Order: sequence, then C-alpha cells, then structure tokens
Amino acid sequence: MNELANQIAVVTGAGRGIGQAIALKLAASGADIVAVDLKTEFCAETVQKAQAVGRKAWAVGANVAEAASTDAAVEQILKDPGRVDILVNNAGITRDGLLMRMSEADWDAVLDINLKGAFLFTKALTRAFLKQRSGRIINIASVIGLMGNAGQCNYAASKAGLIGFTKSCAKEFASRGVTVNAIAPGFIQTAMTDKLTQEQKDAITRQIPLATLGTADDVANAVWFFALPASRYITGQVLPVDGGMVM
Ligand SMILES: NC(=O)c1ccc[n+]([C@@H]2O[C@H](COP(=O)([O-])OP(=O)(O)OC[C@H]3O[C@@H](n4cnc5c(N)ncnc54)[C@H](O)[C@@H]3O)[C@@H](O)[C@H]2O)c1
Repeated sequence: MNELANQIAVVTGAGRGIGQAIALKLAASGADIVAVDLKTEFCAETVQKAQAVGRKAWAVGANVAEAASTDAAVEQILKDPGRVDILVNNAGITRDGLLMRMSEADWDAVLDINLKGAFLFTKALTRAFLKQRSGRIINIASVIGLMGNAGQCNYAASKAGLIGFTKSCAKEFASRGVTVNAIAPGFIQTAMTDKLTQEQKDAITRQIPLATLGTADDVANAVWFFALPASRYITGQVLPVDGGMVM
C-alpha cells in the first residue's frame, strides 16, 4: 500500500535502531525519506534501503542538540527535497546513573539531545508546516517519561518534557491542520538496550505483561499510524508501545 505516496518524511537519528525502522516503514508506505543523523555517513544504509524500495532518499548530517547545525540541516532540506510532510523527532541517548552520582554533563547531554533537539528541529520547520497547513509531527518519547525509573532521572525528565512539548505544540498547530503526537516505547531491542545486562533484561521482562521486549518495527508501525492521512483527527496523544507495561 502507498498511503504516504508523494510525501516527504524527515526522521532524526535515522542511522540505526528505531529511527532506521521508522524511516523504512514510511518508505515502504510510499514516502520519500530524509534521514538525519550525527554524520551523513551514518545514514548510508537507511538511504540505500529506502532507495531499494523505490523511494527518493537524502542523508543529512546534523547534531540536533545544536541550533546552528539544526538550522543548517533544515535549510538544506527546504532546498532539496523542498518540503516536509512528516517530521519524526527520534534522535535520543541515555547516560544512566543514580541522581547522587550523576554529573552535570550527563544531565545536560541527555536533555540537550532528547528534549532540546526536538524543540530545535520542530522550531526550524514550524514556519514551513504552518504555511502548508498540513503535516504530522511525531515525537519518540518513552514509558520512562510516564513512569520514571531509578538511575534515569535525566532520561525520564527529557522524555516527560518531550510529552509536555508534544501537547503544547499540538495546541499551537491544530488550527493549521498539523497534528503532533508522541509514542512512548517500552523496552525495545536496539543498541540502546543491548547495553543492559541479562539480569537487567530478565527483570524488565518480568514487568511486561506481553513478556517480551519489543522490536524497532513495533515502534515504526505506531509512527506509521500517526503519519497516515486517515489519522487527521488525532492530536496531542501519547501512545505507549510497551507490551502493556503502562496501563
Ligand atoms: N531502545 C529502547 O528500548 C527505547 C525505549 C524507549 C524510547 N526509545 C527512544 O527511541 C529513540 C531511538 O532509540 P534507539 O534505541 O534506536 O537508539 P540508538 O542508540 O540505537 O539510535 C539512536 C540514533 O540517534 C543518533 N543520534 C544520537 N545523538 C544524536 C544527535 N545529537 N543528533 C543527531 N542524531 C543523533 C545516533 O547516531 C543513532 O543513530 C530514542 O529517542 C530513544 O530514547 C528507545
């Protein structure tokens, strides 16, 4: 099915993991893809796989935490391909540690990439979205932003902030037909969770009613749903994709 034909989707952190799965799901549904990651070369595989299903694809290097870098990336995107229909703010990191021992640098790095990154990228594209009077913005939050987690106060704060950001943007953009929603993934098998020990993974799995970690494709399917033209009447929502952890 080509529900997203003739649409341009920008995905940050698209070089691997969940971001790559999102880019490829949107490509499989007909969208042309702009893959954004720290370095252009990180996007090579995503671009090549999107092209393999017949889509146009561009690689853009940008650090979403830096305004100058984000502005330059958006300027490049608005020249070629020239418009954006779907923005997925996915780039994110963890720097875990108990609050007592957490450095200011680890706090700042997580807030700067996970929260300020979405602010900068969305802000740089706002004028274009409002002018075209249509669009989908989808922010990748986390169940940790809803539940909190010992050892992740920086990450939880960034994702809870991203949820508040999502709802405020949804209210600001609604009159122009631009929807803004968030996905809250639970524990998903990617390089980010590969860092966990088997003991930690077993403890997490015991908290998941569906008793298994999710896949990047599980998250990509939910993004696809919010991106569909048929989802025009859904905005300001947070959808957990978590095997039932939060209910
Ligand atoms: N894996 C999980 O279990 C899980 C759960 C909930 C939420 N999430 C969220 O999903 C998103 C993707 O996670 P993932 O597991 O695929 O992570 P990942 O580490 O596998 O991939 C993250 C990608 O973002 C890129 N990136 C990092 N910093 C960047 C920056 N400053 N500018 C541009 N790109 C940058 C990386 O280069 C990488 O390609 C993140 O926002 C994460 O918080 C993941």
